[in-house]
Amino acid sequence: MEAPATLDSLLRDLRIRLQDAGIENPGLEARMLLGTATGQDTAQLIAHGNDAVTAEQAARVDALCQRRCAGEPMAHILGRRSFWTLDLRVSPACLIPRPETELLVEQAVAVIKDLATDAPRVLDLGTGPGTIILALKSERPDIHAFASDRSHEALQQAQANAAELGLRVGLWQGDWLEALAPAAHFHVITCNPPYIAPDDPHLTRGDLRFEPRSALAAAAHGLADLYRVIDTALAHLNPGGWLLLEHGFDQGEAVRRRLEAAGYHGIRTIRDPADHERTTLATKPARPRG
Ligand SMILES: C[S@@+](CC[C@H](N)C(=O)[O-])C[C@H]1O[C@@H](n2cnc3c(N)ncnc32)[C@H](O)[C@@H]1O
Repeated sequence: MEAPATLDSLLRDLRIRLQDAGIENPGLEARMLLGTATGQDTAQLIAHGNDAVTAEQAARVDALCQRRCAGEPMAHILGRRSFWTLDLRVSPACLIPRPETELLVEQAVAVIKDLATDAPRVLDLGTGPGTIILALKSERPDIHAFASDRSHEALQQAQANAAELGLRVGLWQGDWLEALAPAAHFHVITCNPPYIAPDDPHLTRGDLRFEPRSALAAAAHGLADLYRVIDTALAHLNPGGWLLLEHGFDQGEAVRRRLEAAGYHGIRTIRDPADHERTTLATKPARPRG
């Protein structure tokens, strides 16, 4: 009779299946999938490696592994993704948080620190699962945090994350800044809009295949939403307020030119750890003294 599978033997099988499917980190992902299927963390998996697994657990692991081998993102399979210091819920209805967006958060934290204002008002446009605004609110609980998205499902996810983390964020649904009352003003506006060209072949590869096209692609070579936000955000910034945008590695120059034409000052682009232009920030000129 065949010996019953143990956690260790299942882990080995999983690693091999993931490796054969071309997964980049098969060891790590095998542990994550086994942990999810059995409800055990890595330390428990190591300590109880010789424990037999039930048929039900083995079936659960097999189902998760099949989804991963078919290319489904780990974040969708686990339903969660780490970002900044947070563990966020994610779903196929919204963009999976990316590490490069932490650069925008870092810059926003620095800008907020330099504001000579108590309780600054911060708005995140196209918030998805609340990625940027929840990171900012967790870092600076004193800000008045607001966020919007066109997608109702994304906002539901943002609401669930805010509730789970106990962070207060005003959320509303709408098309970029058009949803705002004309009098609404902010000290900081952040936005990571869709910026991939609709014909970019990357959209048909990897995780991107499983994410909403409306969160990824924009017309005009990926620049249409960036331009709309640049053109309309100025009217909703306080003098001396800041706009921070994430963009594609080859869009920095176009973004800087558009910001300049729209009347922003202090325009600068920050490179990500891969040395790509990734985040550009600019300020609304302070009112001239008179
Ligand atoms: C690239 S995702 C960014 C998600 C999240 N902020 C992040 O950084 O991971 C772009 C987000 O913009 C939203 N979006 C797309 N078009 C929009 C529009 N016209 N008005 C408001 N939000 C929009 C999408 O639903 C999506 O959540």
